[in-house]
Amino acid sequence: MADSQALLNARFGIEQPGTEVPDTIVPLLDRRVTRRYTDQDVPDSLLDALLAAAQSAPAKSDLQQYSVVVMRDKPRIKQIADWIGTMDWIATAPVFLVWCGDMRRGQRLCAMHDMPHANNNMDTFLNTAVDCSLAMAQFMTAADAVGLGTCPISYVRGHIERVSPLLGLPNGVYPVAGLTVGWPVFRRPVSMRLPPRVVVHRERYDDSALDSEIAAYDRRRDARDPVAAGSLKNKDIYPTRDGVGWSENVARQLSVPERFGFGAYLKTKGFDLA
Ligand SMILES: Cc1cc2nc3c(=O)[nH]c(=O)nc-3n(C[C@H](O)[C@H](O)[C@H](O)COP(=O)(O)O)c2cc1C
Repeated sequence: MADSQALLNARFGIEQPGTEVPDTIVPLLDRRVTRRYTDQDVPDSLLDALLAAAQSAPAKSDLQQYSVVVMRDKPRIKQIADWIGTMDWIATAPVFLVWCGDMRRGQRLCAMHDMPHANNNMDTFLNTAVDCSLAMAQFMTAADAVGLGTCPISYVRGHIERVSPLLGLPNGVYPVAGLTVGWPVFRRPVSMRLPPRVVVHRERYDDSALDSEIAAYDRRRDARDPVAAGSLKNKDIYPTRDGVGWSENVARQLSVPERFGFGAYLKTKGFDLA
């Protein structure tokens, strides 16, 4: 049996007497993203196995409404890294995947069978995003299991008007996230999460203790891994100063609209979102 309390302490900054972590799920508690890769390539045979694991994820009604674009061409990966500008780890990855929600395939299946596609709506949009996310998550777990590192890149959506034509994404297909894949140069520290009692609700939703829980979480994070000046959000609007905790940095980020053109973009790609 694993040293459960050490693992839980690393993940939450608190011990949880009573929680026993079976050895088989230790890698899940111990995971973290990778933002620097060696020059070593990822063989196609291995990549294909990881993609097969991803395709083994559950999918809503077995509709399988997602696609993934595999990029190995360094100049094309660097092009995306350059557009994003602030994430140089993208260009060090030998493989870059773009995970896409895909309503188009279902529309084509309906056309193949001479039926209308009557589900161009918000529910289908959500289903495509969920199918896609589950597959990406399963890919990441499989990659971790063989010692590879990964990092999701939502910023591809910040440059969607250029990324989409680069990948030839047709109507009905949109990027959910990119994913860098490669052999880690080093493992980052475990990132501390909110305590389970904030995220896990028993029988009924209850956030009545949120204020005090967040204050304590901010203090725990600050003691281990204070928000660095370089990680402060929206410095052009809010002053740079010491002592900004996790929750204030979240508020700094969420107080400014992010990718507010995304809905309009989806409409140009044929999504009704009704
Ligand atoms: C949907 C999604 C999008 C993300 N986008 C980015 C990104 O654009 N760039 C990046 O460096 N990390 C990105 N991340 C990684 C998160 O920043 C990271 O998971 C978080 O800081 C917690 O760190 P950990 O995964 O090591 O625990 C993303 C993660 C998710 C799930």
